[in-house]
Amino acid sequence: MIEYYARRAAEYEQVYAKPERQADLQQLRKRCREIFAGRDLLEISCGTGYWTECFAESAARILATDINPETLEIARAKPWKEGKVEFAVADSLALPDFGRHFDAGFAGFWWSHVPLERLQEFLAGFHARLTPGATVAFMDNRYVAGSSTPIHRTDEAGNTYQPRKLADGSSHEVLKNFPDKEEIRAVLASFTDKVEVVELEYFWMAVYNLT
Ligand SMILES: C[S@@+](CC[C@H](N)C(=O)[O-])C[C@H]1O[C@@H](n2cnc3c(N)ncnc32)[C@H](O)[C@@H]1O
Repeated sequence: MIEYYARRAAEYEQVYAKPERQADLQQLRKRCREIFAGRDLLEISCGTGYWTECFAESAARILATDINPETLEIARAKPWKEGKVEFAVADSLALPDFGRHFDAGFAGFWWSHVPLERLQEFLAGFHARLTPGATVAFMDNRYVAGSSTPIHRTDEAGNTYQPRKLADGSSHEVLKNFPDKEEIRAVLASFTDKVEVVELEYFWMAVYNLT
């Protein structure tokens, strides 16, 4: 999965150009600008910085991380307002101590790649980098027949996998889960009793505050 995204870095943002997804994306961008306004935001698995650009319009400060230097290189090259956005290499499943805690956290299209059996451990590690009361948001894909890449197998833990091809001709198998509202709520139940899950046609977004 890590190598797949390193090789996909240059073509990654094409996924945001699909015409049928524009109305959903516009809604998500608006909501994100609102919830992160004035915040000190930790964005993990930031990829090429597509969502970072959106948050930079309203957040006070952003640290955006990813495990792949290839995606971060594309993100860093974007025209950022001086002093607002920093980037760092970090494994989202073993986040380091960043030397400060953040009052907001975000991960886009990352939850779906975390093995089901590691979600609780991942969330505990992510939340530990945030302040009490921090606002957290996750955004990801819904499975849409005819639009999503078909799932070709499910493992014994319930994780689903897609076969994917890149422009360089390479073939990959990627773990990609499509949780519904109830599954998202159930995973987050040990961290919050109040989570808003928005389901659009192509995407879902979960927003909550840490207690
Ligand atoms: C689907 S992309 C999402 C990128 C970006 N958040 C977005 O929404 O456009 C998943 C990202 O996770 C990164 N990634 C894969 N494994 C990771 C890990 N263990 N820790 C941190 N990032 C990882 C990949 O490099 C890739 O940039």
